[in-house]
Amino acid sequence: VQFDLLLDYAAAWCPRRPLRLLDLCSGPGSLARRALERLPSVEVVAVDVDPWLLELGRRVVDDSTRLTWRWADLRDERWLQALPHSEFDAVVSTTATHWFEPEELSRIYRQITTILAPDGLLANADVIPDEANGSRTARLAREMLSRWQAARIRRADGKDWRGFWDDARREPAFARLLAERDKVLGFRRPRRALPLQAHIAALHRAGLRQTTEIWRFHAAAILIAAR
Ligand SMILES: C[S@@+](CC[C@H](N)C(=O)[O-])C[C@H]1O[C@@H](n2cnc3c(N)ncnc32)[C@H](O)[C@@H]1O
Repeated sequence: VQFDLLLDYAAAWCPRRPLRLLDLCSGPGSLARRALERLPSVEVVAVDVDPWLLELGRRVVDDSTRLTWRWADLRDERWLQALPHSEFDAVVSTTATHWFEPEELSRIYRQITTILAPDGLLANADVIPDEANGSRTARLAREMLSRWQAARIRRADGKDWRGFWDDARREPAFARLLAERDKVLGFRRPRRALPLQAHIAALHRAGLRQTTEIWRFHAAAILIAAR
């Protein structure tokens, strides 16, 4: 639902075709794949720092006319140099902005503004808690929900995130790219998710003054932003 919503908003906002879309922190390209299926006229550039996930994506989606993969580390200010174009109609990102420190994210939003077409749209789906309600009942609700979700993940038969990575590391064919991943990411892990209010303030400072939350389920939300 979240991928489809985000793509529909991008397509509705910007009438140009093909729609040139940048998927930041794409991982293996789940959103990029969905974009190719859903939007008949789209060109996607998928960017990530993890060489192993990029390779997984390359092997799963074979559409080099509409999808370009690029390696870049968004912690490095020069990441824009890795892009094949200087302007995009839509810049999207899913479940990724909580990997960055607040000042890194502010800089990334500023840099996105420089490559966003004048009528372009930024869409970010992530854990973006709305902390406007600071009452004790609201804090309890947030705490109980995250405990309940963690317990459900532990009970599920399916793999959790840790199980997925443990399996990947047991596969000898993945060893070289996973070693490269460890080199670039080190022990870096996701950060505490920034609240909605911090995202909106950073977007405004970056020059994206129209910001709207288009979807929310507890702390998971989608924000769109434009000039
Ligand atoms: C939870 S995954 C989400 C992947 C994908 N967007 C999705 O929704 O399926 C977070 C992604 O952010 C990427 N990432 C983390 N730090 C990054 C950085 N400094 N530069 C580029 N990508 C980064 C990770 O490699 C990973 O693919």
